[in-house]
Amino acid sequence: MSASNGLPRTTCIVGVQWGDEGKGKIVDLLAAQADVVVRFQGGGNAGHTVVVKGEKFVLHLIPSGILHRGSTSVIANGVVVDPQQLLEEMSNLRARGVKIGKNLLISDRAHVVMPWHKLMDQLAEGSDAQKIGTTKRGIGPCYADKAARKGIRIADLFRPDYLQQRLEALVSEKNRVLAALYGAPPLDDDEVFREYRGYAEKIAPHVGDALGFVNDAIDAKKRVLFEGAQGSLLDIDFGTYPYVTSSNSDACGIPAGAGVAPKKVGHILGVAKAYCTRVGEGPFPTELVDDVGERLRSVGGEFGSLTGRPRRCGWFDTVTSRHAVRINGIDGLVITKLDVLDQFGEVRVCTAYRLDGKTTNSMPGDCERLARCEPVYKSFPGWKSDTSKVTSFRQLPKNARAYLNYLERELGVPVVMISVGKDREKTIRR
Ligand code: IMP
Repeated sequence: MSASNGLPRTTCIVGVQWGDEGKGKIVDLLAAQADVVVRFQGGGNAGHTVVVKGEKFVLHLIPSGILHRGSTSVIANGVVVDPQQLLEEMSNLRARGVKIGKNLLISDRAHVVMPWHKLMDQLAEGSDAQKIGTTKRGIGPCYADKAARKGIRIADLFRPDYLQQRLEALVSEKNRVLAALYGAPPLDDDEVFREYRGYAEKIAPHVGDALGFVNDAIDAKKRVLFEGAQGSLLDIDFGTYPYVTSSNSDACGIPAGAGVAPKKVGHILGVAKAYCTRVGEGPFPTELVDDVGERLRSVGGEFGSLTGRPRRCGWFDTVTSRHAVRINGIDGLVITKLDVLDQFGEVRVCTAYRLDGKTTNSMPGDCERLARCEPVYKSFPGWKSDTSKVTSFRQLPKNARAYLNYLERELGVPVVMISVGKDREKTIRR
């Protein structure tokens, strides 16, 4: 079933590129029909921008569903939660009239971002060893500790004796690492204990069995929407490793990140910008370091919603997008920010790469080769007219339709929605 005919029972929204594709707006649109909206990976590194009646909301940890009265927003086990950031986000939303009560559920299995995670992320990025260009929110170190079985989970915050014991051992180890690697002053485990017990008290009404809640909702045939953060090319396994985030930021992350069986993950919508952007380090074959790239950045307002960093900009890349279509099993494509291209005389699409004297259609699995790929472009005449008020596919300029039809054919997936502006209303459904 296509999204235009109503929301399929379980739907997943993922980014096709390196994040910042405009997923927040699309999740927000579909959340209006959803009973449950689930974040299953990532953490406060996300920045989902949603504009409601001209008012801008930027969500980091809380699913975009929170802006809809009828739905429950779930932060599932696969997310890493910084309680300080979460509480700040909750209080900012409340101050703007958003109701947060039983409609927010945090998994007791989710891992907690601890002070040393943030410190290590910041210090590692400051040292020259291996700069990734992270958001410095402690995401990588927290997932690393999860895998090393040195993490603290939300449930642990509510077991004071256990928490204290864990902290004694962990803080002493982390202090040695912080001192040896960065000459950083030590953390005090009692202080951390008090701080995090304080957070626990405040988030307590929202903590529970998210796994049971989401599965019961699916079994009861409720509409469940999985909200991917970042994008497929930042996936730790399938992205441009090591220049990735530390989770499975595509549909592959849902089963483990929400405790939902693979066969229950339903319709997959992939969101891609009509061009391409990337924040942070790492290869980006179609990057434009010229006036055209600069124009995409300024017209598209391409600056990080979390960090304010200017985003690197370039043309749409069908090679990386086909890779994303494959690993996600994308059923429908949503193309966002088409209007940004309105005044360009020419629009280009990368159709293949030249690598070591050969033309290839597939994305190399390693960054060394990807960084050497030269894009092969197909050129399209621009449409030089305003699409931001268009409400149906038929009304789009002929050249814009040709561009979208080409993407659809190349990727083998129908374009089911097109976004031509920030507001909910500026969306063309097909
Ligand atoms: P981390 O997730 O903070 O560890 O950052 C790792 C990489 O992912 C960096 O290149 C970040 O810029 C990028 N990244 C993380 N979250 C987002 C996002 O929500 N949008 C775009 N890029 C992101």
